[in-house]
Amino acid sequence: MKKGSLVILYLLIVLPMLAQQATDVAIIPEPVSLEKRTGSFQFSGSTRIEAADRHPDVLRVANLFADQVRKATGYKATVQTTAAATRTNLVSFVLNKAEDMELGTEGYRLEVSPAAVTVKANYPAGLFYGIQTLLQLFPKEIESKTTVSQKSWAVPAVKVTDYPRFGWRGLMFDVSRHFFTKEQVKQFIDDMVKYKYNMLHLHLTDDQGWRIEIKSLPKLTSVGAWRVEKTGHFGGFSAPEADEPVNYGGFYTHEDIRELVKYAGERFVNILPEIDIPGHSMAAVAAYPELSCTPGNYRVSSGDKFMQWNGDGTFYALVDNTLCPANEQVYSFMDKVFTEVAELFPFGYIHMGGDECAKNFWEKSDAIKQLMEKEKLKDLHEVQSYFVKRIGKIIEAKGKKMMGWDEILEGGLAPGAAVMSWRGNKGGKEAAAAGHEVVMSPNNHVYIDLRQGDPAIEPPVYSQVLLKDSYKFEPVPDGVNPKLIKGGQANLWTEQVYNLRHQQYMTWPRAFAVAEAVWSPKDKKDWNNFIGRVEQHFKRYDVAEKKYAPSMYEPIINAAKTANGAIGVTFSQQLEGLDIYYSFDNSFPDRFYPKYSGSAVVVPKDAGFMKLVTYRGKEQVGRLITIPVTELKARADKKK
Ligand code: ACM
Repeated sequence: MKKGSLVILYLLIVLPMLAQQATDVAIIPEPVSLEKRTGSFQFSGSTRIEAADRHPDVLRVANLFADQVRKATGYKATVQTTAAATRTNLVSFVLNKAEDMELGTEGYRLEVSPAAVTVKANYPAGLFYGIQTLLQLFPKEIESKTTVSQKSWAVPAVKVTDYPRFGWRGLMFDVSRHFFTKEQVKQFIDDMVKYKYNMLHLHLTDDQGWRIEIKSLPKLTSVGAWRVEKTGHFGGFSAPEADEPVNYGGFYTHEDIRELVKYAGERFVNILPEIDIPGHSMAAVAAYPELSCTPGNYRVSSGDKFMQWNGDGTFYALVDNTLCPANEQVYSFMDKVFTEVAELFPFGYIHMGGDECAKNFWEKSDAIKQLMEKEKLKDLHEVQSYFVKRIGKIIEAKGKKMMGWDEILEGGLAPGAAVMSWRGNKGGKEAAAAGHEVVMSPNNHVYIDLRQGDPAIEPPVYSQVLLKDSYKFEPVPDGVNPKLIKGGQANLWTEQVYNLRHQQYMTWPRAFAVAEAVWSPKDKKDWNNFIGRVEQHFKRYDVAEKKYAPSMYEPIINAAKTANGAIGVTFSQQLEGLDIYYSFDNSFPDRFYPKYSGSAVVVPKDAGFMKLVTYRGKEQVGRLITIPVTELKARADKKK
């Protein structure tokens, strides 16, 4: 072959291949700047990993990197603490001697060349985040829990400069409605740090279980941590009966909490403990009924209905699940709780809940009436505000700052308290306008307990947040002083989350989107680019055998009456370029079936079910959805 032909061949074949390799770079969250370079670094059994700063945290993060690499590659991958003489075939983690002003406390610079990999940062946290990016540059098999043989471990050459947009990048995990063991919480932490989250908000108490040992109040866990187990749809269970075994639950001992705090801290994660009061307190009241305004015989809720939600934001309790603000014992009780909580969690904030407190039992209580008179409280919001302010003083006396859900604004907020805005942006705006610190957690974007697709296929939950809704999350609402927005977080309530696999399904990929909102520069947002990266990460999850929701590939099904009274079906899709094929004859559609054209599909008069499936080209990407025609009819009727 002539030299000229070789050059042409190189231009036609090799260059596009290099470009191909470059497109495989798929970092989530998107870094501040990423420059692709030519070639790749070959990680092999002879590659040295160097942490020569003699700093224990640097050695520790280098070892976290080595552990994961070792597991997948089978290489020895030991970390060296002395500087290697030859600076090739080397992965080195370096703390800056002089501060690199652009990077702040969590930023890093990562340089991968064919000769070497270098991660530099001002602090060990930055090195840790650099490692997460570096691991995402490795082939997806690096996620394997067992050794993958005969694999080249090529890392594409890049230059990355990266640092977070916000210091508070949180995920809330409700361990009350369903209990997750200490080991499962560690897995949750492992998963979140890969996407540079640094805040684990543990929702430790609720009506369905008290999950933290309080040594001075032993019944909180001997009674409050346990309930009758029910199976099916949480919220609609029968009430626990006296003769049913109290066989479901669990709690974290002080030792467990210390272990979790240490584990999280080693991964640069703070744990924010939440003790949800004065509402959501059935488990506490079951243990200590005298804390209620209406003492009686209470049971830890098993997921039976005891609240009436009216669908317009109003609600009332059928069973009193509140602590009584008019009872002095409640404050000495909470003092004991917060003494132990403050000792166990080094993080500077304690979350006291404050949300969704039904006040209908307070309304009838003579003790509350007396309190209102004595304290000149003009309504029940002010009663709650009185309670919140007293709790704020207790928390402050333990050397902590108080945070609560946005209901703590109602009736007036204690100075110095921080607000977690969940009912959209409203509470956050109001709190910031009054000079309070805010964490944004609006339910319409980041409530990852909500359905992520059509109810015809997703497990039933009362509302919906699609991946594209999560991707639209913007932590700084218009007109708000950004300095008061500490950051954002996604919340995983677990009424309908029964196990770790489903926890993963609900969290990912929506937590990819939220990670990007709290880490990446706002002007880097690009939905199509994000989806391309999400798909790469799905492949990594497949290797890791971690569950994720493929719901983004599936349509939302809309039905409306046609002019002549039939039902017309249309679809809304989150992704472009997907084809929907359908059947009405109960057989399984594939890409050789009728294809949705964009105009309404008319349901044949005698059809019982519509089945549909989504393809990208020849590849099936969505799951089979079967929807009864009765359901299509119900949707069409609702639309009228
Ligand atoms: C909440 O979702 N009740 C804070």
